[in-house]
Amino acid sequence: MELKIIEAKNKKQKPTGALGFGKIFTDHMFVMEYENGAWGNARIQPYAPFTLDPSVAVFHYAQAIFEGTKAYKNEKGEIRLFRPRDNFLRMNDSGDRICIPPIDVDFVLQALEKLVLLEKDWIPTENGTALYIRPSIIAVDPVLGVHASHKYIFFIILSPVGAYYAHGLEPVGLYVEKEYVRASKGGTGHHKVAGNYAASLKAGEKAIALGYDQVMWLDAKEHKYVEEVGSMNIFFVLNGKVVTPALVGSILPGITRKSVIQLFESKGIAVEERLVEIDEVMQGIESGACTEIFGTGTAAVISPVGRVGYGEREYTVCGGKMGEYSSMAYREITGIQTGKLPDPFGWVKKIGG
Ligand code: PLP
Ligand code: COI
Repeated sequence: MELKIIEAKNKKQKPTGALGFGKIFTDHMFVMEYENGAWGNARIQPYAPFTLDPSVAVFHYAQAIFEGTKAYKNEKGEIRLFRPRDNFLRMNDSGDRICIPPIDVDFVLQALEKLVLLEKDWIPTENGTALYIRPSIIAVDPVLGVHASHKYIFFIILSPVGAYYAHGLEPVGLYVEKEYVRASKGGTGHHKVAGNYAASLKAGEKAIALGYDQVMWLDAKEHKYVEEVGSMNIFFVLNGKVVTPALVGSILPGITRKSVIQLFESKGIAVEERLVEIDEVMQGIESGACTEIFGTGTAAVISPVGRVGYGEREYTVCGGKMGEYSSMAYREITGIQTGKLPDPFGWVKKIGG
């Protein structure tokens, strides 16, 4: 497929102060459309709003999927993408779950590289910053019947970002949610489907009102096993062993999660992927057997957990500080991403020569 490039005439001012997360967007975006059974009209164009008929499927039935990955620029001027192919492969899995036609992974990877290179001056370089990449697909059939759309828009927008949490690398507080559920087996929780996030908002607001940052979700059936967190997977250090919930069908298979597992295993640190009972975690925090908890995600990077709220009680984890395993994971994963450390796993794609 041909890729047209239409350059923006008026360029925006680059940000100078704190970036926050996902509030600033670059000058260009990638767009392609699906119609008559094929993707086409691929172009990099000026960043601009879409004009959509009020009847399009995405507005009514949430037929939408998205991804999140990042580009980094280091002091040598290298531009580096972290495992971007895995995001587009996961996007096709998500699409399959809600009847969105697959994209050509090689083609969109090339388009992404061109877009990031065009916007390379937007990639921030301070510690903890990156250019966040948000690919999305929305269903745009202007028809109210409930069926899979015949028309879609795929787009990629870019946003220079700092830390996802307002307090940066400071340990976060999580609230264990016992009433609402995020996902159940057979549902869409294993996929990056937009509707999952709408379903999570109510519990997220409750956690924030109680003074926490995000929700720690339990399984939908028994409310007994830990699944994941609002925007990250979760790891525990229990009795000196690193443990993370197994991917049982209702948990997002995080790319950072699998990278941390591979990293730890390469250092001889076994990671147990298994069912993790919330009681085991809470009793472990009380007895001292649970010495560390941390989350992993593209936006969240490696986020140490300093507090867990469970019912009326609040528990402090690791003295409210970042522990040894999360520090190591943070140092090594961000080191590989930015090029401060070698990349023995071949995760990074350097672009632009
Ligand atoms: N779980 C959820 C619900 C997420 O939204 C994310 C973020 O993408 C993750 C886990 C972490 O996934 P990844 O490491 O691929 O960013
Ligand atoms: C990511 O980490 O890329 C996410 O998509 C999480 C969140 C911002 C929804």
